[in-house]
Amino acid sequence: ADTVTFDWDIGWTRANPDGLAERPVIGINGQWPLPLLNITKGDRVIVNMNNKLGNESTSMHFHGMFQNGTSDMDGPVGVTQCDVPPGSSFKLNFTIDQPGTYWYHSHSRGQYPDGLRGQLVVHDPENPYLGQYDAEIPLTLSDWYHDEMPGLIAGFISYKNPTGAEPVPKSALMNDTQNLTVPVEPGKTYYFRLSNIGAFAGQYFWIEGHTMRIIEVDGVYTDPAETDMIYITASQRYGFLVTMTTDSSANFAMVGSMDTDLFDKVPATLNTNVTGWLVYDNGAPKAAAALLDEFTPFDDMTLRPQDGMEILGDADLTVTLDLSMNNLGDGANYAFFNDITYTRPVVPTLYSALTTGANANDVAVYGEYTNSYVLQKDEIVDIVLNNADKGKHPFHLHGHNFQAIYRGPDNEGSYNATNETTFPVTPMRRDVLMVRPLGSFVIRFKADNPGVWFFHCHIDWHLDHLEACRAVSVPVAGNAAGNTVDVLNLEGQNKAVAPLPA
Ligand code: C2O
Repeated sequence: ADTVTFDWDIGWTRANPDGLAERPVIGINGQWPLPLLNITKGDRVIVNMNNKLGNESTSMHFHGMFQNGTSDMDGPVGVTQCDVPPGSSFKLNFTIDQPGTYWYHSHSRGQYPDGLRGQLVVHDPENPYLGQYDAEIPLTLSDWYHDEMPGLIAGFISYKNPTGAEPVPKSALMNDTQNLTVPVEPGKTYYFRLSNIGAFAGQYFWIEGHTMRIIEVDGVYTDPAETDMIYITASQRYGFLVTMTTDSSANFAMVGSMDTDLFDKVPATLNTNVTGWLVYDNGAPKAAAALLDEFTPFDDMTLRPQDGMEILGDADLTVTLDLSMNNLGDGANYAFFNDITYTRPVVPTLYSALTTGANANDVAVYGEYTNSYVLQKDEIVDIVLNNADKGKHPFHLHGHNFQAIYRGPDNEGSYNATNETTFPVTPMRRDVLMVRPLGSFVIRFKADNPGVWFFHCHIDWHLDHLEACRAVSVPVAGNAAGNTVDVLNLEGQNKAVAPLPA
């Protein structure tokens, strides 16, 4: 295994990716779009980050990495670390021992939609599908705004926006452009690596005239599953094989189409689609793209892991989270888990866990309103999430893959335990699952990764103060008292100030 070192100056630059508005964006070493990171499984990654923004703090999260033994390298501000102030540096140092398609992004509040997000691919010398494709095609989808996030957030969390309507993106991007062309050869098979690095919009994705064969989701290999259309939420990833037709008389469109169900209003001027082109080198014409409603999106709950891993045994602990959205006294809209909305703790939860010694198993350490859950190492945990909101919410668990064992349809209401009979024998493991409007889901995981871990909706508008976003802590190895601390720390008003070790 190698050590891969990145020296990053994080600073403002300018870009106009949709051709509609040039704007300030957060770049790395003066460049934007951000670099695609190619890593090989087993590599150590070192990032020397210098915050050259001048006016904003920052942080960096490698989405989907387990950070086993390196919870302090995970990045979410208030959970595992403080913001890195302007003029300061931060060194990330961790190993990547999982293959697949990922991304990296700022985990400071509301920052990544201003540009600080890019794709990460972890190559796997033992990929079970090696030999079944000729080359790889990395692809990102995202939504895009023209205004900077601090101003948009101020308008969003305001008594003037009592319904919590999220700002609607101005456009959609594919590999940070609207003019993507990818050269391909007839008859060849490509491993597409698709990451939704957007802030808000899930996207429908299809390739005209071609079937996709899904082999990986969120870094976990799947049994091959064929489809004409994928629905990919913010922060999810799909890996799929596509064999190009041997007829090269036309070039084919790849289309990303933002899910307008998420938008309170769809402005007449909004182009909800982004189209890229797979092109042959003979100058063939472009084949017209089919329309969104000619397809049925793939049901991701039918995916099965390629390794055949079965459902974990019954849960030792069930955490039930009722998600609702409502106004507080300031007239602004907030989201709640079990009637508690999150306020970022003054002291990052990991520091609290590490400095409270023998008391660290005590939920009270994390504050009366933290919704912290203290787990025993290796216990099996179910999170039952009941969505009392009419929106779709893609939930992400840091530090783990979970088994997606149940998802109810729209309007089914709270999870009913009789549905246990429907749990699949070999549920798909992944790190982001969407709960449907007024529906529920159940995810199951083993608390086998010591640390403090966040559990939150990945719609960036909902992160931090707004969505029921929660920190999850599982065993912290080697804390001040030398004991193993097991904490599932769901986010809430964390007013705890860490006591010093005795
Ligand atoms: Cu993509 Cu909390 O992470």
